[in-house]
Amino acid sequence: MTPTHGIQQVSDTQGRLAWLISGHQRVRDLLADPRLSRSHPNPGHPVRLTQPGWFGGPIPDPDGELADLQRMRKLLTPALSARRMEDLRPRIRAIVDGLLDDLERTGPPADFHSLVAYPLPALVVCDLLGVPEQDRADFLRWQLEAKQVSKPAVARGGLQSLWRYLGTLIERKRWVPSDDVIADLLRAAELDPALTDDGIAHLAAGLLFAGHAPVVAIIDRGVLLLLTHDDQREALQREPALASSAVEEIFRFASPVERQRATRRGGLTRYAAVDIDVDGVTIRAGDTVLFAVQEANEDEAVFPDSKRFDITRERVPHLSLSHGAHFCLGAHLARLKLQYLFVRLFERFPTLRLAVPLEDIHPVRDAVAGAVSQLPVTW
Ligand code: HEM
Repeated sequence: MTPTHGIQQVSDTQGRLAWLISGHQRVRDLLADPRLSRSHPNPGHPVRLTQPGWFGGPIPDPDGELADLQRMRKLLTPALSARRMEDLRPRIRAIVDGLLDDLERTGPPADFHSLVAYPLPALVVCDLLGVPEQDRADFLRWQLEAKQVSKPAVARGGLQSLWRYLGTLIERKRWVPSDDVIADLLRAAELDPALTDDGIAHLAAGLLFAGHAPVVAIIDRGVLLLLTHDDQREALQREPALASSAVEEIFRFASPVERQRATRRGGLTRYAAVDIDVDGVTIRAGDTVLFAVQEANEDEAVFPDSKRFDITRERVPHLSLSHGAHFCLGAHLARLKLQYLFVRLFERFPTLRLAVPLEDIHPVRDAVAGAVSQLPVTW
């Protein structure tokens, strides 16, 4: 069903009734509304599409969730601060260049998804956490295994290995000084005894998972968009200073694969903690609320000619990184690596193009909108 601006009742993916919020202003306002939370007011109620409690326990009730959230953000904000990101900049460049070397060695043709999009965010998180070079191949393999939801034994094994490894790493960093997020968290734990090694491991794993799938999706989506819009790619090649607005436009715009199959909807989920009136409609406490983020990103009132992919837009207040209390903590990091990647990719591979028709590129099921299973390119 095509939403009109405002609020309407729809079925969610499990066939249950939910409120769909659309329109840029309405989505933005309600994302920042503290009466809507990721936990359900009835603690026994299953919650859909949400992250686990950041400190390892089940996601708490709305009040507990707020305390949990504030604590998590206070601990992680310095870890993802502008200063740390500036320190990380040369490392990010080295990681991107190394992966583009792999692409060059492998092809043409080569699978951009598995050689660049997939490993890049995991390697950057390794740097952030201070995972030594020699351990990274194992770390990446366990992470990959941990995500195999269709093979529960493999996923469990991967998670257990990651967990054991993080425990050892934390212990090692207690004795060997380093300048990374785990070292920061160990320092924070000296002032906050409630922050245990398990708590630190949960935060580290949280960064790994929160900072992976969406970045892979945006990289795949960005490359697909640039490869299917020659004028925009050529503009970026001529003027690398467009990198920043290009990345924001990629965040705003749906993947061409999703557009083609009309499967896009995406969205963020919340539950009403109390009764809330929106445009004369009462959302009852406990009701599910879905945000039509992609439609908000295409609201003509905010993005004129919104169906056009245009990397020269001057203002791109998209909502792909959320808004309000949950605004993505990794936004700065994500922007840094994406801007460098898209410029460097087309500098090094000026004739890059898809090696198969767009129709042969398949979205990954259950993934964050935009990721694909393979992205064969040639040059
Ligand atoms: C480019 C890709 C990214 C996208 C599209 C993205 C998107 C999002 C969104 C939509 C949320 C809010 C979810 C909600 O409102 O319920 C979020 C939260 C978060 N993101 Fe990102 N993210 C990206 C990259 C990253 C990276 C690279 C990191 C860190 C390494 C990261 C860490 C986090 C964390 C820790 C939160 C939780 C914030 C909270 O709940 O308060 N993200 N992200």
